[in-house]
Amino acid sequence: MADEIKFQKRVDNGEYIEAKDEMPEEYRRHLIRQISQHAHSEVIGMQPEGNWITRAPSLRAKQILLAKIQDEGGHGLYLYSATETLGISRDELIKQLHSGKAKYSNIFNYPALNWADIGAIGWLVDGAAIVNQVSLQRTSYGPYARAMVRICKEESFHQRQGYEIMAKMMSGTKEQKEMAQDAMNRWWWPALMMFGPHDTNSPHSSNAVKWKIKRETNDELRQKFIDKTIPQAELIGLKVPDNNVKWNAKTNHYEIGEINWDEFHKVINGHGPCNKQRMNHHKKYHEEGIWVREAAEAYSKKKLERESLIQA
Ligand code: 3HC
Repeated sequence: MADEIKFQKRVDNGEYIEAKDEMPEEYRRHLIRQISQHAHSEVIGMQPEGNWITRAPSLRAKQILLAKIQDEGGHGLYLYSATETLGISRDELIKQLHSGKAKYSNIFNYPALNWADIGAIGWLVDGAAIVNQVSLQRTSYGPYARAMVRICKEESFHQRQGYEIMAKMMSGTKEQKEMAQDAMNRWWWPALMMFGPHDTNSPHSSNAVKWKIKRETNDELRQKFIDKTIPQAELIGLKVPDNNVKWNAKTNHYEIGEINWDEFHKVINGHGPCNKQRMNHHKKYHEEGIWVREAAEAYSKKKLERESLIQA
């Protein structure tokens, strides 16, 4: 008990908790759950965008998309590495993903139907991720906070390139404008769900706030995203697909309609439009990639043997 009091004092003082520090088992487990699901999201999120590399409308668009997807893979690696510092293996994390024990973000279970979707994903999905991840730069677990600092730098480029695609389409032909608005209509609400259930229905938030894993709550972050994004939509002529949107001059925030939480729970429990496709794809290529992992392990083993011979 004394150790937990000492630990909580360190957190309350704003100290970073490092991998080798004493920490309550519940704190460690909470971090493994959250950081690994964050990592899974980054890697699964490469799928909807990857489908559009060969169909990008220009060489420039293809280069940008390739760079973005490569970044997401790197984000997944930083976050898997941060999770491993908590004493769990990469193999175990992948097993938890494949068995359905571990989740990944709801948002990646929707199809990317056309190029406007690539714009909406960059602008709305990465835009939402930035709001969440900027806050996580101050999370109490050191390795997670440091991974966030690096990831946030790349996320800003992701959001800007997505908004550029939407702006270009909204200044294009009638068909392009309709495509962009249709993408906005399909991605807006699932992007709001990315922030998680309302604080009153979030079983993990009280501990997350107590341990300063979350520095702001699900609803606070969602509101930040809404307040930032609605003016961006209006600036380029996009209509937010919600007739209840209105500016509240008293609170200085936008008010919106109610999120469809039945859809949210359906999707995060495996019954979204693309859940099966995403998981089958990940399992197939994880299986096919076994030779890469074996080669890397054999190489690092040989390297270690050589180095120990030199030192002997
Ligand atoms: N998608 C899937 N599951 C979600 C979810 C979402 N958007 N929001 C909440 N959940 C799940 C939680 O995982 C939890 O289930 P579990 O007990 O099985 O883990 C349950 O719903 C209850 O939710 P809570 O709010 O109580 O859970 P958390 O405190 O973990 O909060 C969270 C959820 C806000 C997503 C938090 O985990 C978080 O901030 N995670 C880090 C950010 C992250 O994971 N982002 C994913 C997107 S990454 C991305 O977009 C990449 C970009 O480059 C494109």
